[in-house]
Amino acid sequence: MTDLAQWLATQTQDIQLSGVIQSMAAAGRDIAAVLRQAPIAGQTGLAGQTNVQGEAQKALDIISNDIVLNHLQQNSAVSVLISEELDEARPLAADGPFIVATDPLDGSSNLDVNVTVGTIFSVLRTEGGLLQKGTEQVAAGYVAYGPATSLVVRIAGDTTVFALDRAGGWVMTLAAAKVPEASGEYAINAARERFWDAATRAYVRENVAGETGGAAKRYNMRWVGSMVADIHRILMRGGIFLYPLDSETVSKGGRLRLLYEANPMAWLMEGAGGTSTTGRQRILDVEPNDIHQRVPVILGSLEEVRRIEAFYQRQ
Ligand code: AHG
Ligand code: MN
Ligand code: MN
Ligand code: MN
Repeated sequence: MTDLAQWLATQTQDIQLSGVIQSMAAAGRDIAAVLRQAPIAGQTGLAGQTNVQGEAQKALDIISNDIVLNHLQQNSAVSVLISEELDEARPLAADGPFIVATDPLDGSSNLDVNVTVGTIFSVLRTEGGLLQKGTEQVAAGYVAYGPATSLVVRIAGDTTVFALDRAGGWVMTLAAAKVPEASGEYAINAARERFWDAATRAYVRENVAGETGGAAKRYNMRWVGSMVADIHRILMRGGIFLYPLDSETVSKGGRLRLLYEANPMAWLMEGAGGTSTTGRQRILDVEPNDIHQRVPVILGSLEEVRRIEAFYQRQ
């Protein structure tokens, strides 16, 4: 059995980088413990505050953010924390070589119904500044709080999966995730159809037509509503996730956030042989202009991402 520390030693010589990933893994372990106890501790419902995105924060959004912040404050390798729940980037250790960007709790609308949620993180070098393309990431990962608690992490090599054991350790369960190239599963919030662009409409129309349509095979649709849960399913068995640009989100640039949702997930997906696009360009090549910038997100199995890209090219 390989644990997280042993795996990290095979992936990087940089002890400080390993330490940053260990801090995020420790935050994930602590958040898992809080989530398990939350209904009993009364940590449910809204916090009564709004974040910079205009979303009503859940109590657990704030608690999770505080847990991540506390762990990173104790790590002298981290210079800045960017978080969905922090309006501004938070300066930490002055000489820390790394920046962490996080979605401390993803899928918070699923919290009170006991459906899988997660924590997403991206690691960048301090010298590159706050606004760096996804290609500049040095590591990324997420924790999925489901029936088991999973940690999925990638430095530059394989995308690797760990499970949290009862003693609080991380045990490797899959050394190298491989997203199947082909898949018949897609994930999109279909209630937004009236806002979709022509490419998304055409792609989904073919999928719904199944073996009688242009795609010539049968499709299934799955939408958990937690990006972490939807992406974890796709990472493990293939599929495609779409939160495309649509007429309602176009003024904001999309729905999901580039620095702490799209980029880390694209980094992990590419490490597993999958791919990512906004429809028009690779997500990892998007130049950020704001720490909370939003972006259209399409990721997953190669064949499916290529299919929808072809619709965008025809548009
Ligand atoms: P968050 O809870 O961190 O704000 O993110 C929610 C995101 C993401 O997890 C999910 O894919 C998407 O919102 C769900 O959107 P819909 O409400 O349109 O289903
Ligand atoms: Mn939110
Ligand atoms: Mn999120
Ligand atoms: Mn969140």
